[in-house]
Amino acid sequence: MYQTLLTSLENNILTVTINRPDKLNALNKIVIAELEEVTAQINADELIKAAIITGTGQKAFVAGADISEFVGLSSGEGMDLARRGQEVFSKIENSAKPIIAVVNGFALGGGCELAMACHFRIASENAQFGQPELNLGLIPGYGGTQRLPQLIGKGRALEFLMTGNMINATTALQWGLVNYVVSQEELLQKAISILETINKKAPLAITKCITAVNAGYTTNGYITELEAFGESFATEDMKEGAAAFLEKRRPIFTGR
Ligand code: COA
Repeated sequence: MYQTLLTSLENNILTVTINRPDKLNALNKIVIAELEEVTAQINADELIKAAIITGTGQKAFVAGADISEFVGLSSGEGMDLARRGQEVFSKIENSAKPIIAVVNGFALGGGCELAMACHFRIASENAQFGQPELNLGLIPGYGGTQRLPQLIGKGRALEFLMTGNMINATTALQWGLVNYVVSQEELLQKAISILETINKKAPLAITKCITAVNAGYTTNGYITELEAFGESFATEDMKEGAAAFLEKRRPIFTGR
């Protein structure tokens, strides 16, 4: 049993629903730990052939890392946070069984990074994607700077990262961030029908596809990302950015 995840198994497909509706399913330490646990469960349980990760409700997939856990972190603690997020997301990305993201609303910050760590993504028409960390005086720390250019290309990735602007599902589809956009009602069924096709194939060959595709993207950029993420915590701007979000006001950045 999980504290922050709901799970249901049907036709060898495990649906994992992140369930913190009052915080738009933001990723706190418990969610991260439970995502690690459920990834291990997906890989260990012979009854599970594939999995879906989604968010509870119709508003948010995941609205980011839990900003309330950022307050007062030192640079080293910021790095530890990023290291942990990267570690768990890498386990999802390297899962021997397919894990796909069903993006049912906001996928922001760590939510967009979680969706990108999954093997591919399907979005509902109301989905919105963004890496708004810059608004907090931060950068993404859970692999966003690495996976974003892989999926949408360097120029779009840098614009997306530096503006912090959200894009809608149609743009996400055009940019290759998601494979399909369907209505909320059709969303889960679309994911299930693709996974049913995949589940008829040879499991060892599926694992080899995942391993071989991932091997093409091996990079040490993740270390640069987590160091830069951690260094952000030593800046005045990051303290101001997180405080402004929690106090529901606009941040005033000074470059310090
Ligand atoms: N971390 C912590 N709490 C979060 C959160 C996050 N990433 N995203 C949303 N929440 C909380 C809000 O603080 C609020 O809590 P409260 O009711 O106790 O005040 C609740 O979830 C609902 O969010 P709210 O902002 O009131 O909803 P909204 O519809 O006005 O706005 C968003 C929705 C997604 C645009 C807005 O919540 C947002 O900008 N979230 C942060 C996105 C972000 O910067 N993510 C990257 C983090 S690194």
